[in-house]
Amino acid sequence: MQGLSRYRSTFFIVLLLSLSVFVLTKCTGKDKKAPAGAKTANVTGANIGSTSCAGCHADIYNKHIKTAHFLSSRPATEESVMGSFAEGKNTYAYTPLLKILMHKTDSGLYQSVYYKGERKKDIRFDIVTGSGSKGQTYLYWQGNKLFQMPISYFTAAAQWSNSPGFPSDRVMFDKPITTRCLECHATAAGLLSEPDVKHEEFNRDQLVFGIDCEKCHGGGEKHVSFHTANPAEKTGKYIINQANLSRQQQLDMCRLCHDGSIKKITPSFSFKPGDNLSDHFTTDSMSATSVGNDNIDVHGNQFGLLKSSKCFTQSTMTCNTCHNSHENERGNLALFSQRCVSCHKEEHKTIPGLSAAQASSITANCIDCHMPSKPSRTLTLFLNQQETPAVAFVRSHYISNYPEEVKKYIESLAKKK
Ligand code: HEC
Ligand code: HEC
Ligand code: HEC
Ligand code: HEC
Ligand code: HEC
Ligand code: HEC
Ligand code: HEC
Repeated sequence: MQGLSRYRSTFFIVLLLSLSVFVLTKCTGKDKKAPAGAKTANVTGANIGSTSCAGCHADIYNKHIKTAHFLSSRPATEESVMGSFAEGKNTYAYTPLLKILMHKTDSGLYQSVYYKGERKKDIRFDIVTGSGSKGQTYLYWQGNKLFQMPISYFTAAAQWSNSPGFPSDRVMFDKPITTRCLECHATAAGLLSEPDVKHEEFNRDQLVFGIDCEKCHGGGEKHVSFHTANPAEKTGKYIINQANLSRQQQLDMCRLCHDGSIKKITPSFSFKPGDNLSDHFTTDSMSATSVGNDNIDVHGNQFGLLKSSKCFTQSTMTCNTCHNSHENERGNLALFSQRCVSCHKEEHKTIPGLSAAQASSITANCIDCHMPSKPSRTLTLFLNQQETPAVAFVRSHYISNYPEEVKKYIESLAKKK
């Protein structure tokens, strides 16, 4: 299988280079079990921006702008940067002699390096990545190149921290931001240089912040001009609705960014809604048998974990079974639990260790016992003057039985009384 899909992938790169995208999407659409009416990328038009959707889809638009997706990259402003610029809270010290001060002036927000009390270098916050549920990392422009700033923000500790993966004893300025980073955190990048050179260059005016409508639905130009001209038409045209795609295509749309193990074989931003992921990435994510409760990193790999769960292998669920992409539902565990119960109506009249009265409370929270938050191995960073790294917790999508979590849950119930 593997060899075959590699071969196919290479074949498609050649096709991509020599033929039009139109031909490509026609070919890839053929072997799909997509329901009748499935649409692929060739139906959509150019990107025109999400504000153009607001007029006719106001309800979706107004909710979507509050999601982590939409807020995942933004211009840096006093409002979007979560860290404090107040004296006493605005310093990160690498060593007693080497520190960075976060401060603001009339021309913007800055990270300034001080060595032995002397100011050596200023870099300006230009872009925020991260809605901030776990943290934020900041980017700055140098000409047409983008770099990651040395200091990030870690929400769980409510303070500035060393950027993830950065050295803890010196300041690093030269970590380039790649198209792949922007592919996951933005809608469009406007690449100026050749793709995948060491320092890719971008057109600032063509960077479209956030993960927006057109990232998942395809460019809206034809759709909007058609419906503007035909206001009586009640069937959506020239746009992709995930609900009409095959299970695999729906999963592929989310895996583009939520499958930690894929590796690209076409330039970033080649994948379009409705495409097959395997035409753009090697998709041999880890095997189901290697997944245990603790032996794999949960960061960014919701797909790999979910795919190993019985819920997934014994049903036709997709990410969209539990997630509504248009709404910020973070923290609403009762709502997510209702989605479990839509398939699991009968389970759990009892749980060993719980009284019948206690057991009745669990219907509002299937999540903490079966999808516990686990420490990420990649979202680790150093807080000011700490020698051991702090770790962000991520929900495991390996839906299973976790005896330790059950114990914790039962103890927390006992405490509440
Ligand atoms: C001039 C009005 C108008 C604008 C502007 C508009 N749409 Fe639509 N859209 C419609 C109508 C009408 C439908 C069909 C009824 C429905 O599903 O709401 C539709 C349906 C859709 C569907 C479902 C299609 C299907 O096959 O079921 C999607 C997805 C969609 N629009 C996305 C967008 C996006 C993204 C934008 C902005 C780029 C946008 N729309 C802008 C009028 C509009
Ligand atoms: C373009 C890349 C991309 C695509 C495509 C994408 N996501 Fe995400 N998703 C992200 C990023 C990046 C975050 C983290 C956003 C943040 O907090 O800054 C995220 C966060 C989330 C979250 C957490 C939301 C929260 O409130 O914290 C959920 C749930 C999610 N995505 C589900 C999905 C589903 C379902 C799909 C497919 C329909 C999807 N994503 C497609 C990149 C993507
Ligand atoms: C393969 C897609 C992908 C790439 C590449 C990627 N990220 Fe992410 N990033 C995510 C997802 C998905 C999340 C949500 C957390 C999770 O699922 O682990 C996330 C979370 C984050 C967060 C925390 C967001 C929050 O609100 O808690 C920051 C900050 C971040 N990424 C910055 C970056 C930067 C900077 C780069 C490039 C140097 C990058 N990421 C590369 C997908 C990606
Ligand atoms: C992260 C991916 C993602 C983003 C971003 C996104 N959508 Fe959707 N959208 C979906 C999915 C998935 C569905 C299908 C839901 C289902 O299974 O019914 C959908 C369905 C729709 C539909 C069909 C009707 C409905 O309510 O299901 C419309 C219209 C729509 N989206 C408009 C928009 C608009 C407008 C925006 C931006 C403001 C947007 N979407 C942003 C993933 C996304
Ligand atoms: C689309 C239907 C569907 C949804 C939604 C769903 N499951 Fe499942 N789940 C299944 C099926 C099918 C199985 C396998 C048969 C069984 O054990 O009942 C399963 C198995 C399980 C198991 C047993 C796992 C094992 O390894 O033995 C647990 C625990 C579970 N689900 C919990 C949940 C929780 C919690 C949720 C919500 C977060 C959920 N499920 C959502 C269909 C679903
Ligand atoms: C069986 C239901 C279910 C399915 C299917 C599911 N999720 Fe989730 N997901 C959840 C629950 C529950 C949470 C925790 C929500 C919370 O804490 O607010 C969650 C959280 C997330 C988060 C935030 C993680 C964090 O800790 O910040 C992301 C990202 C995410 N899901 C992406 C996905 C993607 C991508 C898929 C498909 C591969 C998917 N989910 C499929 C139930 C599901
Ligand atoms: C207090 C922790 C806890 C909560 C909360 C919880 N479960 Fe469970 N669940 C367990 C344990 C423990 C098992 C192992 C089965 C056993 O020993 O009875 C289990 C087993 C299961 C199974 C496997 C099939 C079975 O009956 O053995 C499913 C499906 C399941 N749970 C679904 C759910 C759903 C849906 C919810 C929310 C309504 C939920 N669970 C809430 C602890 C919990």
